Amino acid sequence: MFNHIPVNEPVLSEDSKIFVNKALDSGWISSSGNYVKELEEKFASYIGMKYGIAVCNGTAALHVALLSLGVGPGDEVIVPAFTMGATWLAVLYTGAKPVFVDCEPDTFNIDVKQIENKITKRTKVIIPVHIYGHAAEMSEIMKIAGRHKTMVLEDAAEACGGEYKGKKCGSFGEINAFSFYANKIVTTGEGGMMVTNNEVLATKARMFRDLHHSAAKRFIHDGIGFNYRMTNLQGALGCGEIAHIDEYLLKKQYMASLYDILLKDVPGIRLPKTKSYVKNVYWMYGILLDEEKFGMSKNRLREELSNKGIETRDFFYSPNNQPVLKKYLKNNDKFVNTENIERNGLYIPSGLALTDKQMISVASAIKSLYVAK
Ligand SMILES: Cc1ncc(COP(=O)(O)O)c(C=O)c1O
Repeated sequence: MFNHIPVNEPVLSEDSKIFVNKALDSGWISSSGNYVKELEEKFASYIGMKYGIAVCNGTAALHVALLSLGVGPGDEVIVPAFTMGATWLAVLYTGAKPVFVDCEPDTFNIDVKQIENKITKRTKVIIPVHIYGHAAEMSEIMKIAGRHKTMVLEDAAEACGGEYKGKKCGSFGEINAFSFYANKIVTTGEGGMMVTNNEVLATKARMFRDLHHSAAKRFIHDGIGFNYRMTNLQGALGCGEIAHIDEYLLKKQYMASLYDILLKDVPGIRLPKTKSYVKNVYWMYGILLDEEKFGMSKNRLREELSNKGIETRDFFYSPNNQPVLKKYLKNNDKFVNTENIERNGLYIPSGLALTDKQMISVASAIKSLYVAK
């Protein structure tokens, strides 16, 4: 039988089924009902923030967070060159300009040494992204933001439960965004969440996610809002899932250590690096290939693995390869590290449903493809 190993297969707890059934039985299937609020409270408290504002996906969370910070046309927002497109698309939705900063080669996160070169009078927000579950250099980023009076919005979509120097990802910026997409550590199928300690920002975010009804009177709109509401069914699923986060994080860390052991001696494969003061949640297990040493290109490796039923993904593509970004880039904009990891990076099956046997198959397949010289 063809043994397919997907890049991500989610695991849903039995609790989640109970919660979702209760929501169904209650008849409250829209965004009305108690579970959205319950998830907002549970999630905010898990991250250590006062307010949680749930939305229909992580991209919407970024968009609403930017709007709540007052970002709009004429503003610039610093984003990493190496990230999922949703980070900069959300900036474009607001009419502001994304300004890209290359990544550091070790963790693939925004290179803090290059941020200040890109800050101008128009810079309003810095968006660090905790790539593949490894926290960005938050102490440095917060210092830079303080020096230049810019705000910080963490894109913590990939790092739910991750920590930087003992503090949770998503608890540093003014308002921070998470995704609950099916491949995320806490999932609601589709879904997202903002967290903040600032009541004014929380109120604004609630208005932007729900058509901006005026505070005084519903159906009178005093701003341009969106229908980005989360449903009660999603909220119920999230309540079931968040209860299991510690288990999921342990499994992710166990998986990474098993892959580390299985792949450590394969020539030409660079494994994920974790800084000593970071709790990495290994959202995805990303590897870099040295074509020369491994004896095969990344594309060929991906193809060969696919022939064996093993799904992999390319790393994110650089801004220079995004047609929609052409007008926001200067001809001489170069993102050397991003372009390098884009060329050589791939991630291997990393979902919570992965078994030891499957991980062993993935590692053996990679080893068997190494071409000894
Ligand atoms: C870094 C990052 N930001 C934002 C998002 C967008 O989240 P969503 O797919 O829930 O809209 C993702 C999703 O994978 C992501 O990885």
